[in-house]
Amino acid sequence: MTAPADTLAEISAGLRAPRAWVSPKYFYDSLGSRLFEAICELPEYYPTRTEASIVARHGAEMTKAMGPDCTLIDLGAGNCAKAAALFPLLHPARYVAIDISSDFLQASIAPLRQKFPGIDMTALAMDFSEQLVLPEQVPSARRLFFYPGSSIGNFTPAQAVGLLRRMRAQCDDDGAILIGIDLAKDSAVLDSAYDDELGVTAAFNLNLLRHLNRLIGANFNVRQWRHQGFYNAQEGRVEMHLEAREALQVAWQGGERSFAAGESIHTENSYKYTVPVFAGLLEQSGFSVATVWTDPRQWFAIIYARALRP
Ligand code: AVJ
Repeated sequence: MTAPADTLAEISAGLRAPRAWVSPKYFYDSLGSRLFEAICELPEYYPTRTEASIVARHGAEMTKAMGPDCTLIDLGAGNCAKAAALFPLLHPARYVAIDISSDFLQASIAPLRQKFPGIDMTALAMDFSEQLVLPEQVPSARRLFFYPGSSIGNFTPAQAVGLLRRMRAQCDDDGAILIGIDLAKDSAVLDSAYDDELGVTAAFNLNLLRHLNRLIGANFNVRQWRHQGFYNAQEGRVEMHLEAREALQVAWQGGERSFAAGESIHTENSYKYTVPVFAGLLEQSGFSVATVWTDPRQWFAIIYARALRP
């Protein structure tokens, strides 16, 4: 599988940068999506479980806010489990599942079509990080953008505002957003959530190199790299990096680079917010916060915000 020219250009530019980086969206080949599912089962990785507990406790109130028959648009649907948990309460008319990992998405949505025959379902393989345009068949009225899991944390606050504005531009004045936000907390909790005992997060991070080998014909030797995942308090985000264990060379379609021992590739940011700060980003993007639900430890928040009239 080789990448389109713009993907190759983007990845090459990042690998060539003085401080090398690769977008976290390239974690999600089929194995990467499965490794992420395994991460969600880890005792250290609290976000998925905490978010699910908030939905279990407040789901009825959450879904009542939107009312039935909306068009639920799931950004980064993955295994579609989070949306499926809402179906019995929300009764959406339509479900539009969007994910960058096409095969994984198709396999995930198939059993849901069987189980919820009353919901019209569409799977779209799309990278919505730069552009968000929904096909014409998706009605524009009553769109509910569902962006769970704190995936918005992968973007800088400025990029997050860009993405939220694209959502606002893709809904009518009756549109809304239901979004999961990981909250700032003790750094030891964050450090272990992103550097777990079993090394599943390490495997998830390292698998990116195998994906790049296929995607851009690179020759990364995975054994030469080490996982790092830690909270950067200054920046208010968890960072993941891949660090070269030794001096090494990498080549790919149309490029090459050497890395010194200890030099790294920045593979992910995962921003942690407070509710007021994130509410500010929503307001800047044309949404007004209606309700916020959290867990007793205040580790995670689900925010329901309505489109503001421009
Ligand atoms: C899918 C972006 C929400 O940032 O916590 C999990 C990805 N990275 N462990 C996150 C991830 C390492 C995850 N998101």
